[in-house]
Amino acid sequence: MTTFPKDFLWGAATAAFQIEGSPLADGAGPSNWLRFSHQPGGILTGENADIACDHYQRWPGDLDLMRQLGLQAYRFSLSWSRIMPEGTGAVNGPGLDFYARLVDALLDAGIQPVPTLFHWDLPDALAERGGWRNRDCAEWFADYAGIVFQRLGDRVPRWTTHNEPWVVVDAGYVHGVHPPGIRDLSAAPHVTHNLLRGHGLAVQNFRAECRGEIGIVVNQEPKDAAGDDPADQAAARRADAYMNRQFLDPVLLGSYPDEMAEIFAAHWPDFPAADFAQIQQPIDFLGVNYYTRSVNRFDPSPTAQPVQASQVRRPGALYTEMEWEVRPRSLYELLMRLRKLYGDIPLFITENGAAFADPQPDEDGRIADPLRTEYFRTHLLALYDAVADGSVVRGYFAWSLLDNFEWTFGFSKRFGLIGVDFATGERHLKDSALFYRDVIATNGEILSDSRSR
Ligand code: FCB
Repeated sequence: MTTFPKDFLWGAATAAFQIEGSPLADGAGPSNWLRFSHQPGGILTGENADIACDHYQRWPGDLDLMRQLGLQAYRFSLSWSRIMPEGTGAVNGPGLDFYARLVDALLDAGIQPVPTLFHWDLPDALAERGGWRNRDCAEWFADYAGIVFQRLGDRVPRWTTHNEPWVVVDAGYVHGVHPPGIRDLSAAPHVTHNLLRGHGLAVQNFRAECRGEIGIVVNQEPKDAAGDDPADQAAARRADAYMNRQFLDPVLLGSYPDEMAEIFAAHWPDFPAADFAQIQQPIDFLGVNYYTRSVNRFDPSPTAQPVQASQVRRPGALYTEMEWEVRPRSLYELLMRLRKLYGDIPLFITENGAAFADPQPDEDGRIADPLRTEYFRTHLLALYDAVADGSVVRGYFAWSLLDNFEWTFGFSKRFGLIGVDFATGERHLKDSALFYRDVIATNGEILSDSRSR
């Protein structure tokens, strides 16, 4: 039997910029992503997210779909610039009201709201002031968090601060493919550090204002070496420190991994010791986003900076439309390893899912997506095995509730349980959504039928 623990929480996830549309409605200020998505070359497909899933208008219908799936929790993010158009100072009442209505409607529907405070869209006014590179950004973020806690803290049982800070640093400041679109190894460590300080300060505010639980969401991509060659092994170790431990070690252990100084060399700063006490606030759980692993070999070329590792494609393996290898076993290995490194802190899988090309809905409105369904099935079995072997996982959120705006890839990558026709806004449940609905309804038991497949 693959029944999950009693009280295991089944959900799905989205992010504000990817689904909402109406970025400037009702007094909202522009975000860095709004600006970036309108810059030539910012989005590979030339699209923008001005309408996206039109969730800002259609959210009551989306809530009905969540009900149809039997979701027990919904993870979404708040747009800071809707709530504080300038990022600091004045609060935009209607922006905060939008999220208050959503939260209340979720609670009425018996669906636990799990908001993320920062899922990459930063008020553009703050980007102008240096964004996360500016040490003050940590305090700006904590103030914004405090305002949200005051309004919603009495009702929301579980919060997260940042989503995947690594992407903000790596894509924004190392590879320059997300805003602010720069490549500057001397900026990156400060951005990491200020994001983490912001997290810690927000947690402090939370403890002063609210009961309930708070955590941070990190993406974890196991880094395997291409072979036994010590150079490849060392490359995989650096890649792991950079992407995985750079964020978890300070939050949970109070220091950066030793490899950081090796990776950033002269650019790695001597951070004030007092900052680490700020960062290492006790958290109630850790949110883990898992999609894939990577296989690494040593590569000294400029494109493989800063870790001098590049990824090897595995012949015969299945890859998603993102070019991410499908490997459920790595989820199991990751969960075992997290326990070894960081102990029994409760975990949530806050994102897991796959982009595959989908057919148009047929005349009955059906979207057959066997590869995505199989991805969920095999990853949930791996998760079950990890829980059976002692990993403390409290819940799982599929990425994503809806097909949406996949950042620089525009609408070209579909991750949804629910298909969206971006021309008309129409939604259709995919087969994977029906499968997931049955997983939820049986608390995982239907997975046992497929165990031997
Ligand atoms: C994660 C992001 C999420 C989405 C998925 C596919 O890195 O958190 O917004 O883009 O990848």
